[in-house]
Amino acid sequence: MKTGYILVSGGSGYIGSHTCIELIENGYQPVIVDNLSNSDSQSLDRIEDISGYRPTFYKIDLCDRKALDRIPKDIIFDGLIHFAAFKSVNESVANPLMYYHNNLESLINVLHFCTERKIPHLVFSSSCTVYGDATELPVTEETPLQKPSSPYGNTKQISESIITDYLKVHPELSSISLRYFNPAGAHPSAKNGELPQGIPNNLLPYLTQTAVGLRKELQVFGGDYNTKDGTAIRDYIHVSDLAEAHVKAFEYLMIDRMGSNYELFNLGSGHGYTVLEVIQSYEKVSGQKLPYKIVDRRPGDIEKIWASAEKAEKILGFKPKRGIDEITRTAWEWEKHFRKNIEKSIS
Ligand code: NAD
Ligand code: WQD
Repeated sequence: MKTGYILVSGGSGYIGSHTCIELIENGYQPVIVDNLSNSDSQSLDRIEDISGYRPTFYKIDLCDRKALDRIPKDIIFDGLIHFAAFKSVNESVANPLMYYHNNLESLINVLHFCTERKIPHLVFSSSCTVYGDATELPVTEETPLQKPSSPYGNTKQISESIITDYLKVHPELSSISLRYFNPAGAHPSAKNGELPQGIPNNLLPYLTQTAVGLRKELQVFGGDYNTKDGTAIRDYIHVSDLAEAHVKAFEYLMIDRMGSNYELFNLGSGHGYTVLEVIQSYEKVSGQKLPYKIVDRRPGDIEKIWASAEKAEKILGFKPKRGIDEITRTAWEWEKHFRKNIEKSIS
């Protein structure tokens, strides 16, 4: 083990749990703080099962600043990775204050905590949603941001500003914002993956729930976009690649760089796939047909977006290893594993 403890907020969630596994495999000791509002404590079992190490866990709501005092003062953290947030676009439109409160208050408390505990490095989960309907493709980190199309997206834009404003008066803290494109897929062991509550909004979990017969058919939102097959294009990045990028981002922060104390990076594969191409990939890896129907466009959806992945490759040395087939295959394997082995023990 390297000396470092790393505090991982939202570490029992989808991306956080995969990042904990990657941190452990690279010799770090993640300590998780999560209020389990969108995850369950069995996530810790899955992390331990895969990595052989069980992170210390604190069930704390990050909006409760005093509750953070429960984290012992004698743990020296080398850094903090802040995943904890609400993330549903639709829910944020229906309940904007819930999103502004949770996502911003928790970040403010995290920044106070970094100062109080002298934590030198912060990695923040941002999103490609800040680019909106991007003005250029591929999207680089210089592409102008658009007015956010949802309160959720706005919380990510505001969060990035809060961090940069705070860093100006706290040069002892350095930070990286990572703008994820479309995280998808599951751990290659199929023992950890995405666990959406209720009916999934995102493509991959809806597709895999359809594949195992939980949903009748996948609705493909829009067949009349200006793309090669008429369906919308996104940049899907495998969650284990994303996890690896967090380790690289953290290690980049630990190098003594004489320049600025803030950087941001896109995390995408650099390739766009249409919805039909994702379905075809699933059908290829599973050998099964997927029931689907093309329906009207989903309000608020954009036609196409994919990342320029160059900056992360050049500066962080990060290049995703897994392609779309690995994403659909692992997502499907996890869905089958979960329905067979885990679901009953949770419900
Ligand atoms: P997730 O919901 O699986 O994980 C988030 C975790 O944070 C959950 O375990 C939840 O219980 C916890 N949490 C939320 N509010 C909290 C609070 N106030 N106090 C303590 N814990 C709290 O989501 P995810 O997909 O792993 O996303 C992680 C981060 O990445 C989020 O910030 C999200 O906005 C961002 N992101 C996700 C995607 C995506 O498509 N999954 C894309 C771009 C950005
Ligand atoms: C992908 C494509 C849909 C479901 C969202 C958030 C964004 C970011 C990532 C957090 C689109 C199509 C989907 C279905 C479909 N999250 N689709 N049938 O919309 O690109 O981005 O997640 O930061 O902020 O907005 O992801 O997975 O919902 O959709 O046809 O049942 O699949 O129209 O083209 P999206 P998604």
